[in-house]
Amino acid sequence: MNESPVIIALDVESTEEARALVRALGPEAGFYKVGMELYASAGMEFVRELIGEGKRVFLDMKYYDIGETVRRAVAQVARVGVDLLTVHAVGQVMRAAVDGRGDSKLRLLAVTVLTSFDQDDLHEMGYTCTVPELVGMRVRTAVEAKVDGLVSSPLEVRTVRKLAGSAMTLVTPGVRSAGASKGDQKRVATPAEALASGANYLVIGRQVTRASDPAAALAAIHREIEVAAPSTGN
Ligand code: C5P
Repeated sequence: MNESPVIIALDVESTEEARALVRALGPEAGFYKVGMELYASAGMEFVRELIGEGKRVFLDMKYYDIGETVRRAVAQVARVGVDLLTVHAVGQVMRAAVDGRGDSKLRLLAVTVLTSFDQDDLHEMGYTCTVPELVGMRVRTAVEAKVDGLVSSPLEVRTVRKLAGSAMTLVTPGVRSAGASKGDQKRVATPAEALASGANYLVIGRQVTRASDPAAALAAIHREIEVAAPSTGN
């Protein structure tokens, strides 16, 4: 198939476990998400190792700090050769991140509203709007701040695509093949549905990483995507 849209979430607690997964997946996986847990244990050294092996890296750090700190941290991430980095979709934070990224190849993804937040959480933070309203406002701010993309639930990706336009890179977690265990993700779509709704990349974790044969599980997802949208071979 053409380049895979699947990014594997390396949600494990040690370098050893992460290396074992990367080895097990071999050439089937070319793009990995390193989140807070693995970063806290394995750090940038492991990110460099992945990039050194020719893998692409999505660093999911969801930066949210004063502009100067964000700008300087993003510049460091860009220097390492990371492909995707998340920041919160707050104007000041995103503008500082865009500044820090400069003309490197790093693409910045804005996180609008965490999927775990509901109306009560917004109320607690002092917001009087609804979750969809806040998502909409933050998508517009992200476009104005000129970040490169957004993280979106697969069920909101169609709306987000309309608001964000065709140039934005949309990345969706919460994706599961029909019949696969949903884990703690309540609102999910299949990989083919998420792509058809406008996602460019799919973040998939446990369906692959907890499979007895991770490479076979990922290959099955790749076949599923191919069947839904056969590549032209170009
Ligand atoms: O559920 P799964 O293991 O596929 O999750 C993969 C990634 O999706 C996790 O690393 C997490 O960051 C993200 N996720 C999310 N919202 C959820 C559940 C997971 O953004 N509700």
